[in-house]
Amino acid sequence: MVLTDKCNMSCDYCFVQTNTGKADMTEAELEAGLSYLFETNVGEEEVSLQWFGGEPTIRFDLMQFGDQLADRLAAQHGVKRIRRTVVTNGARLTDSMIDHFARYQYGVGVSIDGPPAVNAENRKLLGGQPADDRIRRNVQRLLAADGVHVGCNLTPTSANIGRLAEMVAWIIDDLGLTFIYTNTPIPTGGRWRVDGAELARELYEARMVALGRGAMMFSVLDRAFQALDRRHPMLFDHMQSDRTLNVALLPGNRISLCDINFDEPAFLHTIDELRSEPGLLGVIAKNIAPINDCATCPALAICGGPSRNEQLLIGGTTPDPQMCAFYQGTVEIAAWDSTGVQ
Ligand SMILES: C[S@@+](CC[C@H](N)C(=O)[O-])C[C@H]1O[C@@H](n2cnc3c(N)ncnc32)[C@H](O)[C@@H]1O
Ligand code: SF4
Ligand code: SF4
Repeated sequence: MVLTDKCNMSCDYCFVQTNTGKADMTEAELEAGLSYLFETNVGEEEVSLQWFGGEPTIRFDLMQFGDQLADRLAAQHGVKRIRRTVVTNGARLTDSMIDHFARYQYGVGVSIDGPPAVNAENRKLLGGQPADDRIRRNVQRLLAADGVHVGCNLTPTSANIGRLAEMVAWIIDDLGLTFIYTNTPIPTGGRWRVDGAELARELYEARMVALGRGAMMFSVLDRAFQALDRRHPMLFDHMQSDRTLNVALLPGNRISLCDINFDEPAFLHTIDELRSEPGLLGVIAKNIAPINDCATCPALAICGGPSRNEQLLIGGTTPDPQMCAFYQGTVEIAAWDSTGVQ
C-alpha cells in the first residue's frame, strides 16, 4: 500500500520519486484496493499488508483506517490471519503509532544503513540534517513496546559497501536489532553500481556475523540457499517463496505488478482491468534464459535471467555483468557453505 510519495527525508539513492506533489491515496482508493486483495484471497490462511511510501507514517490516519477495514474484510472473506508490516525511516514515530503497531502486532522495518556517520552519508532529512539520534530513540521505543517486531532494512550503499559485516555488528550490538533484511541494490541509474561478486561475499560475511550473535539476516543470498536446499529452482522475482505475489497499490486506483517500480506503464493496471482479466497478474513473469550465456550459467536455477524490472532499468535483455557476477557468487557461496543448506 503505497500511501503517499511524501517523505520527510531525501535519500540520494531512493528509487521512489518523492515529494512530487502528486495526490496521496484516498480512503475510497484504499478501500477498493483492500477489497480486491481480500476477494482474491478468499479462505486463505494469511494475507500480508505492507504500508509503504514515500514515508507511510505521514499518512498514519490511512493506516488506521485500513487496518480496521482489513479486519472486517478478513472476517467477511474467511481469511484467517493478516500479517501487517510497515517500512519506515523511523524519524517520526508518535506514541499513538507505536500503540497501534503493538495492538496489531506489526512487523516494523526501520531503514538504517549503519552507524550515524555511514547512514547520514545518504539518508538525511529534507533540510539536509541527519536524523540518526531521533531514529535511534524511536528504535528503542519500538523495542520497548510489547507485541511489536522490530527489524532493520539495510541498503548496501557507496558508504557501507566493503563494511557490511561491520554495519550488521553495529546494528545488533549497538542498536539492539536482531532481525536484518538487506535490500538488493536497485540499478536506478541504469547500471549496477556495486561489484556483484564482492556484494555476494559481503552478504555472506555479514550473515555469519549475524548468526554468530544469535541474530538473523536475510538477503537474496537466501534465494540461493533455498534453491540448493530444496533442490528446486527459485527463479521468481517479486514473489514470496510460498508463491504469493507482491504487488503495489498506488494512489489513483492503480496497481503496479512490480512492487519496486511505481511508474512503468507496462506494470500498471486498474483494479477493474485485473478483475476482468486475472491473467494480467502474470505479465510480470520474465522470459527464462534470454541470452545464450544463461544456458551454461551455474546460477541458472537461481537467477534465470534479469527480471522485467531489471530489464527496464538497464534498458534491454542483456544482463548487467555485475548482476551475473552477483548471482554466480551467491551460488558459489551456497555450494560450499554448509550453514545455509540442510
Ligand atoms: C523506498 S523506502 C520507503 C519507506 C520508507 N520511507 C523508508 O525509507 O523505509 C523503502 C526501502 O527501500 C530502500 N531503497 C530505496 N532506494 C533503494 C535502491 N535504489 N536500492 C535498494 N533499496 C532502496 C530504502 O532504503 C528503504 O529501506
Ligand atoms: S526515507 Fe524512504 S522514501 Fe524517503 S527518500 Fe529515503 S528511502 Fe526514499
Ligand atoms: S546470472 Fe546472468 S548468465 Fe546467469 S542466468 Fe542470470 S542472467 Fe543468465
